[in-house]
Amino acid sequence: MKNTLLYIETFGCQMNVHDSEQMAALLADSGYKLTENIMLADLILINTCSIREKAAQKAYSLLGRLVKIKKKNPELIIGVGGCLAQHIGQKFHKNFAHLDFVFGTHNIDRLPQIVAAIKEKREKITEIDFYESVNSIGVFVPPQNGKVSAFVTIMQGCNNFCAYCVVPYLRGAETGRPSEDILEEIRKLADQGIKEVILLGQNVNSYGKTIGNGLSFAALIKKIGKIPGIERIRFTTSHPRDLSDELIRCFTEEEKLCEHIHLPVQSGSNKILALMNRGYTVEEYMKKVDHLRNLNPHISITSDIIVGFPGETQDDYQETIDMMKKIRFDSTFSFKYSEREGTEAQKLEGKIEECEKLRRLKQLQMLQDRHTLDKNIALENTRQEILVERRSKNSKDDLMGRTRSWKIVNFEGGLELTGKLVDVKISKGYLHSLRGKMIDEEAGSVD
Ligand code: SAH
Ligand code: SF4
Ligand code: F3S
Repeated sequence: MKNTLLYIETFGCQMNVHDSEQMAALLADSGYKLTENIMLADLILINTCSIREKAAQKAYSLLGRLVKIKKKNPELIIGVGGCLAQHIGQKFHKNFAHLDFVFGTHNIDRLPQIVAAIKEKREKITEIDFYESVNSIGVFVPPQNGKVSAFVTIMQGCNNFCAYCVVPYLRGAETGRPSEDILEEIRKLADQGIKEVILLGQNVNSYGKTIGNGLSFAALIKKIGKIPGIERIRFTTSHPRDLSDELIRCFTEEEKLCEHIHLPVQSGSNKILALMNRGYTVEEYMKKVDHLRNLNPHISITSDIIVGFPGETQDDYQETIDMMKKIRFDSTFSFKYSEREGTEAQKLEGKIEECEKLRRLKQLQMLQDRHTLDKNIALENTRQEILVERRSKNSKDDLMGRTRSWKIVNFEGGLELTGKLVDVKISKGYLHSLRGKMIDEEAGSVD
């Protein structure tokens, strides 16, 4: 089979990153090989995100730029997938005549057939139907280039309908994957050298409650912990309302589960949380944080925060700042509220001016940077277990790996250590990473 070249541009969350990996794996069977040079591609896929207007604009802008490439190479096939494609559907063809196909979030498994049909007939295709179970959920992605960490989807979709969010409309209702399939996939990944799995879902806490096949999420994690070769387990994302005591206990009971939880809080104001339809109060959230930290004081807690949600007064915003000062997150992703078509929040009054949102965001990010830096400095002179991922981007003598708490560490070492767990003494904490020195047990000392 002749190799043809595939370029994929991915926007959005880890779910989307994994979807792109699955697209590449599916198309590899039709002879497509990934390229990093868009100019050489025979097939270009844009895997879009629609979470905020900025994400959507990035995809539109790239798609616009492809007109020129298509003019030079009329044989080129261009497809748009992901959440924005799900949202816009057929209308994409009207606005972008050089586009060949549009496929939705439930139609990834159809990619090889869609591409084959376009090659044969050169007609425009749109496939965005939802299905009860997503067929691509278990597409196996063979680990390549010495990868040590892999995403594994355990559930898809979301039933939460937070007032600001498009995900439930674009990914559909929650569907779980049978635990046996998940375990089988992880066994296979471990056989092929994977040491760390990141369990993926919009709302992983639903696993075993309303979806899955009887096994609770905590029980699933414990079963994964027994798979030979798997050294580390992580998961994302966990909805604070559904975070169970059983799962919190897992952080002490299951050694392979790393001490990091991404627990999006969104706001520190109960009024705003209610308007957002989040289903918890700030006090309830703080109680869960206390519980996590009481069981494990070293657990790293990261979060997502939205500023400028409709009706957010200066006092509401101040409550978010106060909550951040009390909790001191390890890091946060923070966003200006972005109005999305079809969501409940679109109908709310009290929209906040763009410049005011920006002011709040900047101030909040400065505070977070102080907390993040303080936390990283506090790790200086501690001993951390690092899973070595690859050569560091900054220096050819350095390796890059992560602590169990998900912090990046750069340190000197040989590439043969990739995929190994090594102990490192942290020498310096920066805002975005740590620097360290490998502890040589045989030499007896680190200094
Ligand atoms: N399922 C995950 C993540 C969803 S999207 C969860 O529930 O946590 C990631 C983050 O994007 C959200 O946590 C939220 O902070 C942000 N986000 C979602 N919709 C947004 C919007 N309309 N405007 C600004 N930020 C938004
Ligand atoms: Fe969106 Fe809320 Fe679902 Fe997360 S839990 S995907 S924020 S609706
Ligand atoms: Fe974006 Fe869809 Fe993820 S909207 S954040 S790519 S689920």
